[in-house]
Amino acid sequence: MKQWQLQAPGLESLRLEEVDPPGPPGAGEVTVRLHAASLNYRDVLILESRYDPSQTYPVIPLSDGAGEVVATGEGVTGFRAGDRVAGAFSQTWLDGVPDYIPRHGSLGGALTGVAQAYRTFPAHGLVHVPPHLDSVQASTLPCAAVTAWHALYERGPLRPGDSVLLQGSGGVSLFALQLACAGGARVVHLTGSPGKEAILRDMGADHVINYRTTPDWDKAVLEHTDGRGVDRVVDVGGPDTLPKALSCTRHGGRISMVGVLAGGRVELQLLAAIARNISLDAIFVGSRTMFQRLNRALQAHQLVPVVDRVFPFEELPAAVGYLRSGAHTGKIALRIAPDDGARGTARG
Ligand SMILES: NC(=O)c1ccc[n+]([C@@H]2O[C@H](COP(=O)([O-])OP(=O)(O)OC[C@H]3O[C@@H](n4cnc5c(N)ncnc54)[C@H](OP(=O)(O)O)[C@@H]3O)[C@@H](O)[C@H]2O)c1
Repeated sequence: MKQWQLQAPGLESLRLEEVDPPGPPGAGEVTVRLHAASLNYRDVLILESRYDPSQTYPVIPLSDGAGEVVATGEGVTGFRAGDRVAGAFSQTWLDGVPDYIPRHGSLGGALTGVAQAYRTFPAHGLVHVPPHLDSVQASTLPCAAVTAWHALYERGPLRPGDSVLLQGSGGVSLFALQLACAGGARVVHLTGSPGKEAILRDMGADHVINYRTTPDWDKAVLEHTDGRGVDRVVDVGGPDTLPKALSCTRHGGRISMVGVLAGGRVELQLLAAIARNISLDAIFVGSRTMFQRLNRALQAHQLVPVVDRVFPFEELPAAVGYLRSGAHTGKIALRIAPDDGARGTARG
C-alpha cells in the first residue's frame, strides 16, 4: 500500500513509499481503509520540523483522516466492517482532564499518522462520523473542528446572543464560525483577504473587518459592540492578534488561545486581563468525548465543513504548498481512495 514518509527533518525528505499493508488487527484493534485525509497548519510545522524538537523519524504524517472499517480484532464491540469512522487526534486522551500530555498520543507526530491507505487503530481511538458527511468532509474534523468546539462549548459554554471575535478564514476559524452561528452567537470576523469577506458574511458573520486595511481593528470591534467589547475570542494569530484581542474583550470575557500563525511569543498587558477578569484559556485540540459531542452538534444542525480543495493523495507536497500560501478558505484535503458517496455539498 502507499504511505507518505518524512524520512528525515525537512520537507525535501518527504517520500511516497510502497509498504506492506497491516496484518489482521489484534485484540481491541480496528483496521480502517482510509478514504481521505485533511491538512492542518500543525502538519506544515511537523513537515518542516518546526513542531517538536524531540520528533523521531520517519514520521508518517497527517493527524486527520476518515474511512471505512475493514476488519475488527477480538473483543471489539463498538465497530464493525463497513462503519464510517475517523481517528481521534489524540489516541490517548479519551475523556475528562488528562493526567498525561495528550500531544504524546497524537497522530501524525508522536504516532503514525493517516497519510497512508490503511491504518490499524485501537478501537478507543476511533469515532463514528456524522452520517450526513462524506469521507473528505469527515476527514476535516479531528483537529480543527474539535479545537473550535472545545474553545466555544467545553469551557464556559457559549450562550445565545454572545458576541464572538474570530480571525482569518482557515480551518479552525471557519468551524468556529459555523459552530458559533449554530449556537445563536453574533460573530465579528477578521480577514486579511478582501476576496473572502463575502464568503464569511454568507456563512453568517455579522460584521467583517479587514485586519490589513484596518490595523486598529480592536477599536473597530469596540465600536461595533458599543464600547463593551466581545464576549469571546478564538485567537489563532498569537503575537499578531492576542494583545489587540485583549483590548476589545469585555469585562469577564474569555479568550481561547488556539493558534500561533504569527509565532509563539507574545507580550501582553496582564493588568488589562486581570483588571477586567478576562479568562485566558489555552486550548489543545480535545478529547475523544469532545469529538463525539461535536459530531452530535454537527448532525443536529446538519453542518457541513467548508472544503476549499481536494488534492489527489500523490500530491501531498502541492497540498502543503497551497496551505502555506494562505489562499485557502476552510480545509484542504487529500483523496486517498474513491469515495463512499458524497452526502453533503462542498462549501458549507
Ligand atoms: N491549539 C490547538 O489545539 C490547535 C488546533 C488546530 C490549529 N491550531 C493552530 O491554530 C492556527 C490556525 O490553524 P488552521 O489550521 O485553522 O490554519 P489555516 O487553515 O492555515 O488558516 C490560515 C488562515 O488564517 C489567516 N491568518 C494567517 N495569518 C494570520 C495572522 N497573523 N493573523 C490573523 N489571521 C491570520 C489567513 O486567513 P485570511 O486570508 O482570511 O486572513 C489564513 O488563510 C495555527 O496556528 C494552528 O497551529 C491549534
